[in-house]
Amino acid sequence: MPADRPVIVTVPGKINLALGVGARRADGYHDLVTLFQAVSLYDRVTAEAAPAGEIGLVMAGVDVAALGPPEDNLAVRAARLLASRRAPGAGVQLTVLKGIPVAGGMGGGSADAAGALLACERLWHLAPDRAGLLGLAAELGSDVPFLTLGGTAVGRGRGEDLSPVPTTGEWSWVLVTSAEGLSTPRVFARFDELTPNPPAPGLPAGLLDALAGGDPYALGPLLRNDLAAAALDLRPDLAATLQAGRDRGAVAGIVSGSGPTCAFLAADAADAGRLAEELRRDGIGRSVHVVSGPARIGFRHEGRG
Ligand code: C5P
Repeated sequence: MPADRPVIVTVPGKINLALGVGARRADGYHDLVTLFQAVSLYDRVTAEAAPAGEIGLVMAGVDVAALGPPEDNLAVRAARLLASRRAPGAGVQLTVLKGIPVAGGMGGGSADAAGALLACERLWHLAPDRAGLLGLAAELGSDVPFLTLGGTAVGRGRGEDLSPVPTTGEWSWVLVTSAEGLSTPRVFARFDELTPNPPAPGLPAGLLDALAGGDPYALGPLLRNDLAAAALDLRPDLAATLQAGRDRGAVAGIVSGSGPTCAFLAADAADAGRLAEELRRDGIGRSVHVVSGPARIGFRHEGRG
């Protein structure tokens, strides 16, 4: 019985190939339509048995000093929520090894929540309940449901209403992170100031066809982010980052989500490697990562000894 074998879940970060943002709703969220893609930069969430009722967290990896107290952490809140609804009194010791930048616009905190839900569901031997888990995920944050699925999906509502998009082939991206994070609520608030009457959000015409077609030169011109102007207004230095990628031959460059990570579409994996090398050589951003999408969630049980 694998009752106390640690469960390890690797959860990708996300970029938004398109992010159409509408008006602020009465609940404070914005209606949006987005095309999410999970990319191969991962947080690793390990869930180990712990005494009843104890939910602990250790964080390791990039940027962890910038994080708040464990009790506010989304991974802890996810474990508590799952325990309260489906496993009263259960305990878990969580370890999160961060590879996704903190406050980077890639859903890093949401990935940890998704990983904690998925790992605890297994650790606690709960019957898999995908719909139930998606509901809990939506309570934790707008991006959490997508990150319990990975792959590529259209998100509506505040991002939690998902339609997975089956894809073939792989897209090559170069991610450029930033030394300083951006607060998502601040970017949305700036969006409201800059865009007093936004139209109903939608996806660019032809985007899903271009995605299905697999040609980066068809997809590139259709990448959009309605939050980009707000992110650039708060962080004018990102304009130079975007330009640096374009100057070095990126097919297209966008701010990822609410930023400040920038994502560059490359023609293929070799081109992404070349672009990343040039960006690193020229000291652009804090770190430069070659990734691919769509990325999947990974599971394993750690053996003893
Ligand atoms: O859902 P989540 O907690 O990740 O959202 C963080 C913040 O981002 C919200 O408090 C809100 O300010 C903003 N947000 C929004 N509209 C969305 C998603 C997020 O205004 N659809």
